[in-house]
Amino acid sequence: MKKQKALIIIKPDGVQRGLIGKIVSRFEQVGLKIIGLKFELATKEKIITHYPETEIWFKKVGERTLTNYVKKGLDAKKVFGTDNPITIGKTVKKWLIDYLQESPVFIIAVEGYECIEIVRKISGNTIPVLASPGTIRGDFSHDSIDLANEQNRPLRNIIHASDTVEDGEKEVALWFKPEELFSYKKADEKFMYSD
Ligand code: PPS
Repeated sequence: MKKQKALIIIKPDGVQRGLIGKIVSRFEQVGLKIIGLKFELATKEKIITHYPETEIWFKKVGERTLTNYVKKGLDAKKVFGTDNPITIGKTVKKWLIDYLQESPVFIIAVEGYECIEIVRKISGNTIPVLASPGTIRGDFSHDSIDLANEQNRPLRNIIHASDTVEDGEKEVALWFKPEELFSYKKADEKFMYSD
């Protein structure tokens, strides 16, 4: 089995609430290897690249939002002025671009076996109100799509975390230069694996 990489961005809400240390320690304690760590003032261009500028992505985000509205009996048209998923996805992306530039973000690259699955499990559901206790989003936030959209903003869900193996590779390469990533042996690798 190959080791995987994942990117975690501690967003402005996590940075401003002083949660950096607590969040980093959760990824360390499970045994993932931190291979990159830094503060950055994200540029608009980088955020635009980070959240895919594709119809597929806009549609996915818009449809998920609409599903949530239907479940709650809410009218998306009242908030977004439309029920077109692509237009809704584009609005959410605009909010994300502004939000991620509000303060420095703290960026972490981790590596390990089953890294993506572990990072997703520790991060919890993207929508904080649905995230289980014990997860980062479940323990440190309680935002919902309805509340966020009513206030014309993206979800304040503390962190972004890579979703797939492919995204992990792509996102780590987008946010870190090769010389900012480090390779080293952790003491516990000897006990956790037979590498
Ligand atoms: S993806 O493709 O998995 O990244 O899509 P998803 O995680 O669902 O959404 C992408 C980011 O957009 C935020 N989001 C929203 N914010 C506010 N309102 C609505 N309706 C909404 N839908 C999605 C969500 O927090 C995702 O940001 P990240 O950084 O990935 O958590």
